[in-house]
Amino acid sequence: MPLSRLAAVTLLTILSGLPSASSQAPPANPQPSQTEPSDQRAELVRPDRILQALESADSSVRCDAVLDLGRCHAKHPNLIPGAIESLRRSANDPSFDVALASVQSAGLVGSFQAFGAITDALRRPLSATQAGLILDAIDAPTLRPFWKTSDPFRVSAPLAELRSIATREHTLEALAAISIPPASPAVINSGREAFVTARCDACHRVAGYGRAAGPDLRGIGMCYSNTELIRHILQPSIDLHDVGRFDRFLTVDGRVITGHVVSSESDQLHIQTDLSNPDSVVILDPKEVEQRSPSTVSPMPLGLLNSLTPTQVAELVTFLRSDGGQLAPPDASHEH
Ligand code: HEC
Repeated sequence: MPLSRLAAVTLLTILSGLPSASSQAPPANPQPSQTEPSDQRAELVRPDRILQALESADSSVRCDAVLDLGRCHAKHPNLIPGAIESLRRSANDPSFDVALASVQSAGLVGSFQAFGAITDALRRPLSATQAGLILDAIDAPTLRPFWKTSDPFRVSAPLAELRSIATREHTLEALAAISIPPASPAVINSGREAFVTARCDACHRVAGYGRAAGPDLRGIGMCYSNTELIRHILQPSIDLHDVGRFDRFLTVDGRVITGHVVSSESDQLHIQTDLSNPDSVVILDPKEVEQRSPSTVSPMPLGLLNSLTPTQVAELVTFLRSDGGQLAPPDASHEH
């Protein structure tokens, strides 16, 4: 062990009665949490244990170790010798989970060097789901400055490639755990981008952006908590609204059409079946209709949030809660 490392380890050991490393006392759930890497452990693990665990043959131990490395390095940047090199090795680990954890770990550190160390994780061959997870991890607020504003590591092409193949399936549990940022101008801007990326603007109008086909979302922040708001977006058919509500038509020949009647004459019903597209009209003769009832399914499509990273979802929530930046939430009032 090099002297400096020995000294550091000894110092830390003396300073605090430290808990044992994950390699010796594996947690009940050995899988790294893919959505909540910042889930803080109460205390830091000893640097020598982290380095040892990084060499483990068990990939779940290596996962925990690289996250521990990030937490430790974020607090004490000089404590772990070769921390950045270790991050780089983890980004190239044969196990995808370890590579993903290396990106999450870089997010905990949030430094330029840490970001540079994990860029290989963006260039490995990935499945669609894996691409989504890597994109979500790289979109941590702490890493954004290193790839959004300039591109010293030439990651824009690999990122575009990942975006083109990525798929995700957000769950309410995972999204409910994300932290919602205060309404700064930068967050409102990103939130507006997310509003457009997820196609919300096809049916809702907020702060002058979008078409008003669906209900007005003004003041939505007064009605719902963050989690309830996310739930209404993830699962639109709970708690159906009357505005823009669809009817369900069953025809005598057994077809089912759900849509909104835009005009009705004696021999023609014009039914718009996609709220975001005025041209999506089906014409029915009222005599063809056997049964008409209010639809129990929302006209708002499912899965819209899957085009966004968790960070973007958080910014979208801030955008909606502040009516597109027009309402200043109390906790943002000191920002000028
Ligand atoms: C195809 C049209 C359409 C799109 C696209 C759409 N919505 Fe909706 N949305 C609706 C309709 C219609 C309702 C009202 C019916 C209902 O409650 O489901 C609604 C309801 C909502 C509600 C609940 C409003 C309330 O007062 O309870 C929220 C919040 C919402 N949408 C947000 C969004 C966000 C955010 C997006 C983008 C990710 C989005 N919507 C995309 C049509 C749409």
